[in-house]
Amino acid sequence: MSAAAATKGLAGVSAGETKIASVLQDKLIYRGYEIHDLAENATFEEVAHVLLVGHKPSEKELRFFCDELIANRALAPQVIDYIKSMQPALASGSAVPMDVMRTCVSLLGNLDADSQDNSPEANLRKSKRLLAKMPTIIGHMQNVIDGKEIVAPDTGGDAKLSHAGNLLYLMTGAKPSDKFTHVMDVSLTLYAEHDFNASTFTSRIIAATLSDMHGAITGGIAALKGPLHGGANEAAMEMLKLIKTSVDAGEGSIDDWMHKAFEDKRKLMGFGHRVYKNGDHRASILHALGREVAETERTDFIPWFDLGERVQQIMADEKGIFPNVDFPCGLTYFTMGIPVPQYTPIFVASRTSGWCAHIMEQHENNRLIRPLADYTGHPLRAWND
Ligand code: CMC
Repeated sequence: MSAAAATKGLAGVSAGETKIASVLQDKLIYRGYEIHDLAENATFEEVAHVLLVGHKPSEKELRFFCDELIANRALAPQVIDYIKSMQPALASGSAVPMDVMRTCVSLLGNLDADSQDNSPEANLRKSKRLLAKMPTIIGHMQNVIDGKEIVAPDTGGDAKLSHAGNLLYLMTGAKPSDKFTHVMDVSLTLYAEHDFNASTFTSRIIAATLSDMHGAITGGIAALKGPLHGGANEAAMEMLKLIKTSVDAGEGSIDDWMHKAFEDKRKLMGFGHRVYKNGDHRASILHALGREVAETERTDFIPWFDLGERVQQIMADEKGIFPNVDFPCGLTYFTMGIPVPQYTPIFVASRTSGWCAHIMEQHENNRLIRPLADYTGHPLRAWND
C-alpha cells in the first residue's frame, strides 16, 4: 500500500501549524480558551473577537467591535435583489439556502472596495463585514422563502440585538426570547472554530494561492454544505424525522430501524468524527441546552429528544460511536422552530469567524499548499500505438 493510501482522506496527517485552535481528544481550545469556559462565560461576539483580532476584548474594544458588526449588517441592493430572484429556485429545490448563501458571498466580494487587497488591515475589515452580513443573508432568504416582506432591509436588523438575537429576529420579524437568544449564541460559539476541518482547510488552500478572502469563504461554504461536514446538522434532523415516521407508521421500533441501518451499512448522520473518538466536547453542551428549551418552553418537542437519546444509546452500545455537535444542533434548532434548510447556513454565520481567522493566518505566513499524489493510472504508452 502506498503512503497516500495509508493516509486516505489525510487521516492522522498534520497539514500545518495554527495558533487559532486546538482540537484534542480531551479538550477543544480557541486561542488558549477551553470550549466549556467560552460557552459558559463568553458571548459569540467576544469569541469572534478572540478569533479574528487574537485576544479577549476589553469592554471598549468589545463595544467598538459590536458597533462595527451592527453598522455592517445591511446588504447592498444587488444582493437583496439576487436573493429575491432566487425565490423560484429555492421553491423548486434547484437551489438550497447554502447555495444561495455561497453566491451572496461571491457577490459581496464583487462589491467590496477591499476585495483585491490581502493586507492584514483589509482582511480584518472584510472579516467583520462578512461576519456581520451572514445573518442578514439568512434572514432575508428565509423571508423570501416564506413569501413575506424582507425584515429591516435598510439596516439588516435591530441594533439592540446581538448577532444571535438579530439572526433569529431577521428570520421571523419577531423579537426572540432571552432563552432562545442565549441558546443560539452558545451554538454559534460552539460552531465558530475547529482547526483544519474540511471547510477551513479549503479556505486556507484558496488563500494560499494568494486569492482573496471572499473567494476563500465562498469555497469554505461549498465545502461545509456536504452532509459529511456541516450539512450533517440538517441531515441528522431529516434522519430523526425518518425514524419517527417509520415508528409512527407501525413499521417497527427505533431499535429495529437502527438495526436495519446497521445491516445496510448506512452512515448515521450526526455521529462519528475524524478526530474525536470518545465523543465531541461540543455535543453535550448543546444537547443539555436544547433539552432545557424543550422542557421549559416547547414540551411538544420532548419526545424528539427522547428519540434522539435512544438513537445515541444504541449507537454507543452497539457501535461505540458518539454524536458530534451536529446531532444536538439539529434537535435544538428544530425545537426552536428554525426551518431545517437554514441549519447549515447558521453554521456559516458562526464559522465565518474561524474561516476568516485562518485566511488571515495563511496570508500572514504563506506558502502555496500543493501536495503530491501517488499515480495509480495506466503505465506509460504511446499515442500512436
Ligand atoms: N454511522 C455509522 N457508522 C459510522 C459513522 C456513522 N456516522 N461514522 C463512522 N462510522 C464507522 C465507519 O463505517 C467505519 O466503520 P468500519 O471500520 O467498520 O468501516 C468506522 O466507523 C470509522 O469510520 P470512518 O468512515 O473511517 O471515519 P472517518 O473519520 O473517515 O469519517 C465522518 C468521519 C465524520 C465523515 C463519519 O463519522 C461520518 O460520515 N459521520 C456522519 C456525518 C457527520 O455526522 N458529519 C459531521 C462531522 S463533525 C461536525 C462537522 O464537521 O460539522
